[in-house]
Amino acid sequence: SWTSDSFVETTVADLKKKIGNDKVVLGLSGGVDSSVAAVLLHKAIGQNLYCIFVDNGLLRKGEFEEVLESYKSMGLNVKGVDSKKRFYDALAGLSDPESKRKAIGKTFIDVFDHEAHLIEGVKWLGQGTIYPDVIESVSVKGPSATIKSHHNVGGLPDFMKLKVVEPLNTLFKDEVRLVGKTLGIDQKILGRHPFPGPGLAIRILGDITAEKVDILQKVDAIFINGLKSEGLYDQVWQAGAILLPVQSVGVMGDERTYEKVVALRAVTSLDGMTADWCHLPYDFLGKISNEIINKVKGVNRVVYDISSKPPATIEWE
Ligand code: XMP
Repeated sequence: SWTSDSFVETTVADLKKKIGNDKVVLGLSGGVDSSVAAVLLHKAIGQNLYCIFVDNGLLRKGEFEEVLESYKSMGLNVKGVDSKKRFYDALAGLSDPESKRKAIGKTFIDVFDHEAHLIEGVKWLGQGTIYPDVIESVSVKGPSATIKSHHNVGGLPDFMKLKVVEPLNTLFKDEVRLVGKTLGIDQKILGRHPFPGPGLAIRILGDITAEKVDILQKVDAIFINGLKSEGLYDQVWQAGAILLPVQSVGVMGDERTYEKVVALRAVTSLDGMTADWCHLPYDFLGKISNEIINKVKGVNRVVYDISSKPPATIEWE
C-alpha cells in the first residue's frame, strides 16, 4: 500500500535518474503543491533546482517576505522577484474577472520567461501539478495556479518548450500534505488554506489599485489572524475577505461616513468542488467586525457571506 516514505524514496530516485545533471526551473507560489514539489526536486538534484518566487503584489499581507524566508531556510535555491508594479500596470483599468485573470497570467508568464532565460542551459520545467489538476486542466477557473492553466494566452513562451517534470501528478491533496510532512516541511506551509493564483485581484470586485490591495490586505490579515488565534483556522477549508465595489453610510462620533463594505467568506469543503459556508461563532464574527472597522481606515461595514457552493462559488469572481 501507498506510504509517503516509500513515495519519497522512489520518487527521489526516479527524479535523479531522469534529470541527471540537468537544471530545472520551478515557479513557487507559496502554496502547498509547489512547495512540496520543490523540496522533492531539491532532495533529488540540490542546487540544480532553480526556484522563482514572484511577488505579484496580490498576495496576503507580509506573505511574500515570510514565505521567501522559509524557502531559504529550507535550503532551496530560490530567487524572489518583485514584480508588483508590472502586475498593477497590467491590471490598471480592468474590471472584468476573466480579463483580470488573463492579464495576471500573461504578466506572470512574461516575468517567468525572463527569469528562466537567466538560467544558463536550463532543460526542465518543474511543476507542482497534482492529480485533480490533471483531471481538471481544461477548466479556466481551475483549482490551482499551475502555469499550465494559463497556456491559452498567446504564443508559447520559450520556457514552455522545456521538458516538464511533475513529481506530484499522481497524488491527491491529502497525500501531498503527507509527503510534505515526511520531507519535514513546516506545518505553516503545509496547513495553509488554498489561495487562488490571481490572488487578491479576484477578491477586489472591480478594478485594482495599490490602495485597494492595501485595504484588503489589512482586513484579510485581521480575519485570518483571528481564525488562527481562536483555533478556528484548521477547521476551515478556505477563508478570506472581499472588497466590494459599493460604499455605505455609517456614523462615527457625530459624523456620517460614506465608506467601503467588505465581505468575509469562510467555507468548509473536501476538494473545493462543493463547499458549505462555515458556521463561525457569532461572538468571533462580531469581534472581527469591530476590529476591522476600528483599525482599517476606509471601511465602515462588514458582512458575512452565508452562501454555499453550488450555486455560489467560493470566490466572488
Ligand atoms: P470557485 O470560486 O470556483 O473556487 O468555487 C474553487 C477553488 O478554486 C480557487 N480558484 C482559483 N485558483 N486560479 C486559481 O489558481 C483561479 O483563477 C481561481 N479561481 C478560483 C478558489 O480559491 C477555490 O479554492
